Amino acid sequence: MEATAILNTITAASTTTFATYSSKSSSSPPPLSLTSLSSLTKPTRKLTLQSRTSAIYRNYSPISLRITAMSRAAPASVGASTFSKELKAWFYEEYGGVDVLKFDSKFKVPYELKDDQVLLKVAAVGLNPVDSKRRMGKFKATDSPLPTVPGYDVAGVVIKVGSQVKEYKVGDEVYGNINEKALEDLKQFGSLAEYTAVEEKLIAPKPKNISFAEAAGLPLAIETAYEGLERAGFSPGKSILVLGGAGGVGSLVIQLAKQVFGASKVAATASTGKLEFLRSLGVDLAIDYTKEKYEELPEKFDVVYDTVGEGERAVKAVKEGGSVVVLTGPVTPPGFRFVVTSKGEVLKKLNPYLESGKVKPIVDPKGPFPFDKVKEAFAYLETGRATGKVVIHPIPR
Ligand SMILES: NC(=O)c1ccc[n+]([C@@H]2O[C@H](COP(=O)([O-])OP(=O)(O)OC[C@H]3O[C@@H](n4cnc5c(N)ncnc54)[C@H](OP(=O)(O)O)[C@@H]3O)[C@@H](O)[C@H]2O)c1
Repeated sequence: MEATAILNTITAASTTTFATYSSKSSSSPPPLSLTSLSSLTKPTRKLTLQSRTSAIYRNYSPISLRITAMSRAAPASVGASTFSKELKAWFYEEYGGVDVLKFDSKFKVPYELKDDQVLLKVAAVGLNPVDSKRRMGKFKATDSPLPTVPGYDVAGVVIKVGSQVKEYKVGDEVYGNINEKALEDLKQFGSLAEYTAVEEKLIAPKPKNISFAEAAGLPLAIETAYEGLERAGFSPGKSILVLGGAGGVGSLVIQLAKQVFGASKVAATASTGKLEFLRSLGVDLAIDYTKEKYEELPEKFDVVYDTVGEGERAVKAVKEGGSVVVLTGPVTPPGFRFVVTSKGEVLKKLNPYLESGKVKPIVDPKGPFPFDKVKEAFAYLETGRATGKVVIHPIPR
């Protein structure tokens, strides 16, 4: 759906309630339970939200918001506004398999839109293995409190901006990974909902030539692909072997290595049925891992980029003095592992390659999955057999 159409549907709904804290304390509000949230939604008077600068937005009736008084005193950062939204969302209240996922058409989210954040009407969401690992409780020690609305990746339309937001205005189409660190300070209310809040620095304008569904699959995977290549010191003329070339990250490592970093040769592994797909991405040597052992090839590579967790074998395929990037599983020296950082700057840097078609977003052909098929989409992602990205689209109102 285009930004204008999305703004139209938002205008028609106009059921948002919000409140602004008067306290100037910089500490965060106390955690709110789902039950207590319902007390935050009593409307008192109407407010018309004026568009700041968007010409698109001026073509539509203003969004009508109802101010609500906070029923309990709670501090907030200066200028931040906290509001409770009733929205359609997927969430879980306990860790576990796909079955812990629940859908609520009136999930109440206490958004605190910080000065540097924008609120997005979500148009599409990309799923990542980290969403599944988080839901299974693998990051319990550092995770946000339950209940959790999952979702790192998003593409959508800006519907509200914080007071310090400089680059974006209402109506802008953007995309990004909403968690700056993949395993720390995770947002409790992620992107698998009608709305999500995200810091300005984590997003970028959506390339005009790609759809919301295509854009939503990119952020975390392309940021990982780029950061790994940079950390490996990849540069023009070098060769690379990508383990797991057909996956969300691997399919982008191949394309970035070739189109952005100037690789002299790209080799990649996949199962038999995906070798043609690898070649279509620009792979010079497609290796069928069900038939060949890449570590036994006489040829060695400047960089091996392991997205599947074969660290021990990966190091046998690298040249002396080369680098081995490991995303998952055990690390054998000289391999190194890193955890991706979300950066809007990286997306902006790569936007011209997406706009020119040199780098292509790959949405798994089994998708996009509609919003009511999130469980099916996760179950498919968790088979470990996806080609490119598993994407949720559309997100209905
Ligand atoms: N450290 C970080 O910051 C970071 C960031 C992003 C992702 N990750 C991790 O990296 C891993 C990959 O993520 P992803 O999003 O790319 O996953 P994905 O899209 O689910 O990967 C699926 C792909 O993996 C391929 N594959 C599975 N086993 C393989 C093998 N033995 N050899 C070659 N290909 C194989 C499959 O191809 P076939 O069907 O042909 O087997 C499939 O196309 C996950 O564990 C994820 O959590 C880490």
